[in-house]
Amino acid sequence: MSLNPNDAIIRIQNVTKWFGSIKAVDNVSLNVPRGSFTTLLGPSGCGKTTLMRLIAGFYEADGGDIYIDCKRVNGVPPYKRNTPLVFQEYALFPHMTIFENISYGLKLKGLSKTEIKEKVDEMLQMFSLQGMENRFPRQLSGGQQQRVALARALVMGQSILLLDEPLSNLDAKLRVEVRGELRELQQRLGITTVYVTHDQDEALSMSDVIAVMDNGIIRQIGSPWEIYFKPRNKFVANFVGTVNFIQAKIKEIAGSNIIASYAGGEISIRREGYSVSPGQRVILAVRPECISISENNDGVSGANQLFGEIKKSSFLGHMIRYWVKCREQEFIVDDFNPSRHGCMSGKVNISFDGNKVHILEGEG
Ligand SMILES: Nc1ncnc2c1ncn2[C@@H]1O[C@H](COP(=O)(O)OP(=O)(O)O)[C@@H](O)[C@H]1O
Ligand SMILES: [Mg+2]
Repeated sequence: MSLNPNDAIIRIQNVTKWFGSIKAVDNVSLNVPRGSFTTLLGPSGCGKTTLMRLIAGFYEADGGDIYIDCKRVNGVPPYKRNTPLVFQEYALFPHMTIFENISYGLKLKGLSKTEIKEKVDEMLQMFSLQGMENRFPRQLSGGQQQRVALARALVMGQSILLLDEPLSNLDAKLRVEVRGELRELQQRLGITTVYVTHDQDEALSMSDVIAVMDNGIIRQIGSPWEIYFKPRNKFVANFVGTVNFIQAKIKEIAGSNIIASYAGGEISIRREGYSVSPGQRVILAVRPECISISENNDGVSGANQLFGEIKKSSFLGHMIRYWVKCREQEFIVDDFNPSRHGCMSGKVNISFDGNKVHILEGEG
């Protein structure tokens, strides 16, 4: 399914929320495309939960507007917003069976017994929970309980699902498994999902759109690809993965390349999309896997190449991570294709691929 960024099912416009003197959400604007998996990613305390609760209607904004399906929902109570919210502590009713848990909302809505059974059965099947309907939550694993919580939210037939760190109570392996299931289900149902996490892997692997939050502010909105390879600022670059920063100055624009000079020499960067001018100070960002490393003791630095010395290495199975000192600067370099002789040591050359060096504009 292709998403239309102009078709936003949720529009958040200049929303601000204060708690006493704390500005938990600071003038945030975000469009959630219909049918998308949109993730709010950021460190603990950056305002993710507050923003979710504002969307769901558990908090009212102190400023700004929220629209759901083109309707302004400021002042509309949660149960009229069509936005079920699933939390980290998915809070199933412990004294009710799985069937009763899932059917709870349908019963309140006054559906007939046959209708309820039909809908619950559909959910049990969708979440592979058949045969468990008479058990109690404590008789299920964490992953199964999580699925019940999702079934309970989805059984009402809503078109938006809000998930606030729903996987953080699961162990690491199960988390990865449920991650895949959840994304598959979301795509199959085409249900717009707003997802909160502080885990970059989770965000990158599941999302269509990621909004990176920091201190109540959205620092960047983009696809996982853009967030990872074209971070707009140091915060995003650092939060989403490991990155090397290089202080540099634009020397010249030469055809389709930008030449930047820095302490180690010059780097030629592909020009695409940057609006920099000669003399401008910039910061370059390079991911560790975008630097290649080779044994060399001729001590010569060539184009896009630096001479250095390995200070430390760490074997991680699928790759070797090196810390390489080149003049004043230490680079982190990940080698995914190590030679069969094991970790290198001593003097090396590292080289940058100009297509994979990214310019952080306005951060020089
Ligand atoms: N009910 C509340 N009362 C007072 N301060 C709150 C409340 N909820 C959140 N905060 C504060 O607002 C900020 C954002 O919190 P939160 O939205 O829970 O962040 P996150 O979900 O990203 O961890 C934090 O500084 C937090 O301490
Ligand atoms: Mg939170």
